[in-house]
Amino acid sequence: MKVWKGMLLLLLVFSVPFSALAEGGEVEVLHWWTSGGEAAAAAVLKEMLEEEGHVWKDFAVAGGGGDAAMTVLKSRAVAGNPPAAAQVKGPQIQLWGEEGLLTSLDDVARAEKWDEFIPKAIADIMKYDGNYVAVPVNVHRVNWMWINPEVFAKAGAEIPTTWAEFAEAAEKIQAAGFIPVAWGGQDWQEATVFEMIVAGVGGTDFYVKALVEADSEALGSSTMVEALKTLRMIKQYTDVGAPGRDWNLATSMVIRGEAAMQFMGDWAKGEFTAAGQEPDVDYIAVPAPGTSHQFLFNVDSFIMFKVRDPKDQEAQKKMAGLILQPEFQEIFNLNKGSIPVRVGMPEEPFDAVARRSMKDFLAGAESGDLVPSMAHEMAVMPAIRGAFLDVVTHFYNNPALSAEDAAEILANVVKASW
Ligand code: BGC
Repeated sequence: MKVWKGMLLLLLVFSVPFSALAEGGEVEVLHWWTSGGEAAAAAVLKEMLEEEGHVWKDFAVAGGGGDAAMTVLKSRAVAGNPPAAAQVKGPQIQLWGEEGLLTSLDDVARAEKWDEFIPKAIADIMKYDGNYVAVPVNVHRVNWMWINPEVFAKAGAEIPTTWAEFAEAAEKIQAAGFIPVAWGGQDWQEATVFEMIVAGVGGTDFYVKALVEADSEALGSSTMVEALKTLRMIKQYTDVGAPGRDWNLATSMVIRGEAAMQFMGDWAKGEFTAAGQEPDVDYIAVPAPGTSHQFLFNVDSFIMFKVRDPKDQEAQKKMAGLILQPEFQEIFNLNKGSIPVRVGMPEEPFDAVARRSMKDFLAGAESGDLVPSMAHEMAVMPAIRGAFLDVVTHFYNNPALSAEDAAEILANVVKASW
């Protein structure tokens, strides 16, 4: 009888998942990390949370840039049923804070001393009314150009550092039978390239005036006209399959050697890494033309919504704490292509691209060339960003609209949504 009881107990122990045994809670996590590199990075967080005995309920909403995920999040919140955690970034964290739906993470922040290793500029974005309501995950640099060196070599082209050099290189690449630029024809991707151009063509002060302060004079200026013309100039070097293409499919065109380059943030590096490619061997990453000293930053973060069950609350806090642990910061960022948001992390595990990012981040902070990405929700509230995206994508896709008219529309429309 005793033997049977013992066996029954053993059976029970092995058939119950570890998480339930540890009586952990559950965190439903809304995010948009669905590409190869992104999914590998997200899996790190899931595994670490599960090792702590909690359950990760995955709520992935595909769609680069996160616009689809934000729409879903709003409808869940309106229905009174938000997920426990959601990938939300930048100034809009304040909007969620105003709704009064967020859990304060101050106790975790205090216990783990977040203020000591999160750069102040980033910590401020994570706080609502002085309290931490979001936890930062990483720092992405937006203004990168991803290059297939073999394609460049076959075409006899040089890596460009200005837009004039870009046009020269693109001509050669096209003549050699390759697609010069792998283009993802979606509004947020077009805005991503647009903002790199604005930074390069206009310089940092202009970038801030136009895309952060949404200053009408800057938006309607001849510098803006030049930036828009540059954006349009690139179009002739893209392929007919560009409209609607996802960013990671564009990256794989560069990986496969179908296309010579892509303008995209360093989440693209996650795709090269997932494909087993190495920087300076299989691919080269350099800042977009004219932006070598600038760092357009994009910080991913999670907000946590109030949940009732104390076990779920515990799981949420655990997740927030884990995110800033050095071990997580290292493995996650190696997969994601970004750099740690936690300062003081060792450089050794990171490759040359990440190290350059780390160096340029600090240098940019010193010189004033560290600026928030408009396209990636770091610079302006969603309504203004939406106005930017609409005009930029409309201009890019409508040859009949002149750059002069588009700049004027930008100045008016953006002002109206301020
Ligand atoms: C996010 C990245 C993500 C990229 C593509 C950006 O806005 O910050 O984490 O990889 O969009 O979806």
